[in-house]
Amino acid sequence: VAASERIEALHYDGDVLRALDQTRLPGHEEWLELRDADEVAAAIRRLSIRGAPLIGVAAAYGVAMSAAELDAACATLVAARPTAANLAYAVQRVRTAVLAGGSALEEARAIHAEEAAASDAMARYGADLLAGSRRVLTHCNTGALAAPGRGTALAAVTELFDRGGLERVLACETRPLLQGARLTVWELGRLGIEHELIVDGAAAGLIAAGEVDAVIVGCDRVAANGDVANKVGTYAHALAAKAAGIPFVVVGPCSTIDPETPDGAAIEIEQRDGDEVRGLTGIGPQTPVRNPAFDVTPAALVTALVTESGVARPVNAETVAELLGSVAAA
Ligand code: MRU
Repeated sequence: VAASERIEALHYDGDVLRALDQTRLPGHEEWLELRDADEVAAAIRRLSIRGAPLIGVAAAYGVAMSAAELDAACATLVAARPTAANLAYAVQRVRTAVLAGGSALEEARAIHAEEAAASDAMARYGADLLAGSRRVLTHCNTGALAAPGRGTALAAVTELFDRGGLERVLACETRPLLQGARLTVWELGRLGIEHELIVDGAAAGLIAAGEVDAVIVGCDRVAANGDVANKVGTYAHALAAKAAGIPFVVVGPCSTIDPETPDGAAIEIEQRDGDEVRGLTGIGPQTPVRNPAFDVTPAALVTALVTESGVARPVNAETVAELLGSVAAA
């Protein structure tokens, strides 16, 4: 795909944040125009803008557009979604810059550029790690719709494809909101990467049958001990990968690692509206539903954590701290 055809899910043009409305894909390519922190927070809450690094970048611009009401803007944006570490990370950075007399917009642009550069580095490290894998399985959407640049896990898959040898991606549907079916399939199609869509429940059986060489996913928060929160359903793929003896690789920028969260048990899991699960099935509102948007995969099940600063392998408190140390030193 030529650089000019690459997906860029967010543009800030001086006073408006334009965002590709991901709730409308793949049928409709509609752009939202967001003008303040409240509008950005609403777009993040309804998943028009989604994916951990992308919501961080959008929130940074949201603070910049409402910097006159700094505290209220920051509070609204951080509250939009609780699980992804990137949201609080980005809001905090812009807030700190403003309080130090700096420019909110410059800081937002810096975060945007850093995340795009991180995507390229993760793509290279991830593709190095996956060298020789011909068939990979992924969950949710971790491409250019989810993060600046080419994304996180899907950036590594794209790089692997560009280097040659990747035959096929199995894309999990990702119930209930179908980020895999709607968004990953759309991205893979544009990239010209062979793929098959599967229901989430098919993954373990196909992994056990030897149809998958590696599982590769993104992350929304990595705790200090290396436990990983990602889209609900990820943990099941990790268990299946472990049972089959294939790698389970997590890709995400260091902005997704939260050293203040000691372990997975301390990660707040977003609970979303039951209607998302009732969906198209005709099930009435009287049916009780539980709809956790994320689950936690323990570090011991993660073969490697790929970041822009390098790869933690094995994944534990020491190797995660080393990654963060190299960011702080840079
Ligand atoms: O609820 P979503 O669609 O925002 O969830 C996104 C994911 O779980 C992704 O895997 C994660 O944010 C990593 S994306 C680069």
